Amino acid sequence: MKALIDRLAGGEILTLEQWQGLFERRTPQDEIYARNLAREICQQHYGRKVYLRGLVEISSICKNDCYYCGLRRSNAQCQRYRLTPEEIFESCREGHALGLRTFVLQGGEDAWFTDARLCEIVRRIRRAFPDSAITLSLGERSRESYQKLFDAGANRYLLRHETADETHYGQLHPPELSLSHRMDCLRALKDVGYQVGAGFMVGSPHQTARTLAKDMAFLQEFRPHMVGIGPFLPHHATPFRDEPAGGLQDTLFCVALTRLALPEALIPATTALATLEVSGRDAALLGGANVIMPNLSPAGVRKKYLLYDNKRAFGSEAAESLRLIHRALAQIGREMSLSRGDHISIAAKEEHT
Ligand code: 5AD
Repeated sequence: MKALIDRLAGGEILTLEQWQGLFERRTPQDEIYARNLAREICQQHYGRKVYLRGLVEISSICKNDCYYCGLRRSNAQCQRYRLTPEEIFESCREGHALGLRTFVLQGGEDAWFTDARLCEIVRRIRRAFPDSAITLSLGERSRESYQKLFDAGANRYLLRHETADETHYGQLHPPELSLSHRMDCLRALKDVGYQVGAGFMVGSPHQTARTLAKDMAFLQEFRPHMVGIGPFLPHHATPFRDEPAGGLQDTLFCVALTRLALPEALIPATTALATLEVSGRDAALLGGANVIMPNLSPAGVRKKYLLYDNKRAFGSEAAESLRLIHRALAQIGREMSLSRGDHISIAAKEEHT
């Protein structure tokens, strides 16, 4: 499979059959080959830098009922909370004081966060920290809503596509959610002008080499600026409680292939991967990933934002996590960057304006 991996790295668009073949027939040597090539290509574009994003988990309330997620509305055991606009702002302020220049407001689909309320929050952060990027990760909203939030000052939006296969999408989600609507949202976000993040879980129930092939083909076609990939991890209060977790090697392989397919993408070493295996984070950063998202949420709510069991935390407060990250990166020969870390295409554009 090395020849095919080289062609991918050379910019070739692979067919579904080729992608599927990669997933079905790759050997451990192919995986190592892909990861080393991914690291090289990442360094060609972004050097040794690893970009940090301060993550603020603004609400554990969600109207959706996704079968895999611990925040699903049917989970009566989930401790629900919602940060106040003041708490959200304070979390960003703390992050900014520590040097972070990207804030990610992430949460369940919580109807309290109307456009008006969110826009006010975004405007306040934008005014206070004009040098920072604001990323939203708040699920499916209308195009008008995405537009208003963009106009208020948001720059980026994370919305994992979850799976690019219609049948598989239906096996992970209740009938009121659809792949086509998800894709409409992703296209709208790009249209509006956001840097857009897509992504999926590795090893989710009913995933196959074929559905993974569709994920990769989708990424190659849609070309998101950011791609979040982590293993599926079971949560005890969901219908998938007894399903096995996704594999470490499988996840690392997907991260590496994503780097080869999208050389300029910003790809996080996800918390789910680090939860599966502590060394997973380093391995991802040495195999194509170049982003880490330390948690800025107030300590009191962190244990309430549980998408899966045993979520790993690096340090109990933001300052400590930054120190730990700095040290961990130095040990693997990478450099912690506190810059905004825009996608190359955007960073280039802004230098010219
Ligand atoms: N395991 C791993 N990842 C999960 N997510 C949700 N539930 C789980 C789980 N049980 C991911 C989804 C979602 C993102 C916020 O977290 O891909 O888009």
